[in-house]
Amino acid sequence: MMNLNKTYWDAAYARDEIGWDIGYASPPLKAYVDQLTDKSIKILVPGVGNGYEAEYLFNKGFTHTHVIDISAQPLHNLKNRVPTFPEDQLLHMDFFDLEDSGFDLILEQTFFCSLPPSKRQSYAIKMHELLAPKGKLVGLLFNTTFSGNTPPFGGNEKEYRAIFDGLFSIKVLETAYNSIKPRKGNELFFIFEK
Ligand SMILES: C[S@@+](CC[C@H](N)C(=O)[O-])C[C@H]1O[C@@H](n2cnc3c(N)ncnc32)[C@H](O)[C@@H]1O
Repeated sequence: MMNLNKTYWDAAYARDEIGWDIGYASPPLKAYVDQLTDKSIKILVPGVGNGYEAEYLFNKGFTHTHVIDISAQPLHNLKNRVPTFPEDQLLHMDFFDLEDSGFDLILEQTFFCSLPPSKRQSYAIKMHELLAPKGKLVGLLFNTTFSGNTPPFGGNEKEYRAIFDGLFSIKVLETAYNSIKPRKGNELFFIFEK
């Protein structure tokens, strides 16, 4: 397995090899956000990339939205599109080094699948640590396998249950009905509660 470090992700952005980037807030996450009422909640979007969901949240008035990426380029892109996004909520760092807590909501989209599978348990533990009591990790996980030894890395419902079950209450884990066309039938929408 190659080293999926900052250099790897910086190179992907430098070469514009960002096949995961859909260019707008993904419909399943947008639909979830649209039914939230309390705009004061503390939100995190890790491995945010160009951050269309974070942009959507911020513009809707969810001003306590924090984003992290190991690569600086996508954070600059987000800041350019949303100049009023607070600098101290744009975190250029490794997710696993984040020392914070009390998030009410953490949004997942193609960050989990970008990590080496050996880090999946650490991901679950870190998410649990970052969330407030009753806080939710919500998003999408691929329900398919990919070939090759570079991201994305897929999986299935059984594997995901084994990873998250002990730490979270699995409220929803089912095929998303509103995926974008290329991902239709191949992604699970989930809500895991601490
Ligand atoms: C596949 S992209 C997904 C971007 C975005 N979530 C989306 O759906 O468009 C994975 C992102 O995670 C970032 N990343 C990978 N490993 C990371 C880590 N350990 N800490 C923070 N960000 C990381 C990469 O730089 C990249 O922007």
